Amino acid sequence: MPKVLVVYASMTGNTEEMAEAIVEGAKEAGAEVVSKEAFDASADELNDYEGIIIGAYTWGDGELPDEFIDFYEAMDSLDLSGKKAAVFGSGDTSYPIYCAAVDIIEAKLKELGAEIAGECIKFEYNPSEAEKEQGRSLGRQIAGLVAVTG
Ligand SMILES: Cc1cc2nc3c(=O)[nH]c(=O)nc-3n(C[C@H](O)[C@H](O)[C@H](O)COP(=O)(O)O)c2cc1C
Repeated sequence: MPKVLVVYASMTGNTEEMAEAIVEGAKEAGAEVVSKEAFDASADELNDYEGIIIGAYTWGDGELPDEFIDFYEAMDSLDLSGKKAAVFGSGDTSYPIYCAAVDIIEAKLKELGAEIAGECIKFEYNPSEAEKEQGRSLGRQIAGLVAVTG
């Protein structure tokens, strides 16, 4: 069975809501899915999954959330070649750098060799029904790709 890991940081629940939609989609596509908050996960766990989907809201002045920093820094020791990856996160367009965390994580995944295999999802506050459907679709897509190549 294809294995997909969803790791996310969410302070007020918006990014978590999208994580739940992505998990639903990946399960629909037949994947074994594990979903964890970043502070409960270790970066090494990424090695055990063919599909990795990472979410974080944006904090500060276009920064990663504090509870994601340890995970992010520990990622540096990994080689993620061959992994199918995607990123999602909530933000607020009234800040100068909208959803920067999504871009920062996407760049890190690419640097470590992962293939960004689905469109990264940025959304404002909590996800709308349409955005959650986009999340389900992303989950299905990554799970489907992993099933084919994994
Ligand atoms: C102190 C603070 C700083 C923030 N900075 C940004 C930012 O730079 N860019 C952005 O898009 N959103 C920013 N936000 C908005 C949050 O990312 C947004 O509220 C998001 O929906 C929170 O997601 P969560 O419910 O998953 O925690 C900031 C929010 C707070 C409270």
